Amino acid sequence: MKLKGAKVLVTGGSSGIGKATAELLIQEGAEVLITGRDEQKLKSAAKEIGAVPVHADVSTDEGVERAYDAVGERLNGLDILVNNAGIGSRKPVDELTRKDFQEVFDVNVFGAAMMAAKASAIFKKQKHGNIINVGSTASLKGYPTGSVYTASKFGLRAMSQCWQAELRPYNVRVLHINPSEVTTAFGQESRRERPEEPQKLTAVEIAHAILSALKMDNRGFIPELTVWATNPF
Ligand SMILES: NC(=O)c1ccc[n+]([C@@H]2O[C@H](COP(=O)([O-])OP(=O)(O)OC[C@H]3O[C@@H](n4cnc5c(N)ncnc54)[C@H](OP(=O)(O)O)[C@@H]3O)[C@@H](O)[C@H]2O)c1
Repeated sequence: MKLKGAKVLVTGGSSGIGKATAELLIQEGAEVLITGRDEQKLKSAAKEIGAVPVHADVSTDEGVERAYDAVGERLNGLDILVNNAGIGSRKPVDELTRKDFQEVFDVNVFGAAMMAAKASAIFKKQKHGNIINVGSTASLKGYPTGSVYTASKFGLRAMSQCWQAELRPYNVRVLHINPSEVTTAFGQESRRERPEEPQKLTAVEIAHAILSALKMDNRGFIPELTVWATNPF
């Protein structure tokens, strides 16, 4: 697809992978709306990269409504949803609580699903569109203390496969992308970006993979991509 003039909504676009993806899309001439929870951080990221900020928490119905009100008012249409907003969790199995699952699933699974539900209604009507679900290598394999996060990302991957099957007849492309470790603010209590490490992935590699997949002619799509650091050891 052509990215110039494309109308894009990136959830969690105020830092890390979402911000890098929004920035590369804007450099290609796309019109990009970004969401986030911390309003100050969101506004300053939007100013820096030239995006439209929408203060909207994807884990609430109100936040989802606000994001799509802004899509209507500011973008007047939608070609691409990047379902990127996500939070982490690490806990031993014998310490798990129901609340741990609720908090993470509200964002990583239910939030992504509600954002995609609204996008799909638009995409089915116009008979084209793109959904990028930012999964994780935790969508593919469990590990110690990963019960909550991996369950949420396996869930997102399952939904990606359902949406691929359901939306292909409407020319809608759904890409599920699995980054391995990326040095962002993810999982940081301070919410500050981690410094780059020469052998670990940065958000730019993930953004680049997303743009490469989108640029393919609409007659084809990549259902799933996994991105590893070459030698993180
Ligand atoms: N970093 C990694 O190693 C890694 C690896 C694989 C997959 N991922 C996935 O990549 C995605 C992006 O993570 P990242 O590494 O770029 O982390 P990040 O720098 O922490 O960025 C997360 C973004 O999501 C936003 N966000 C969080 N909860 C939200 C909510 N309820 N509503 C709206 N926005 C929300 C954050 O805004 P606020 O700061 O305002 O909350 C921030 O803009 C996540 O889905 C994550 O699971 C990350």
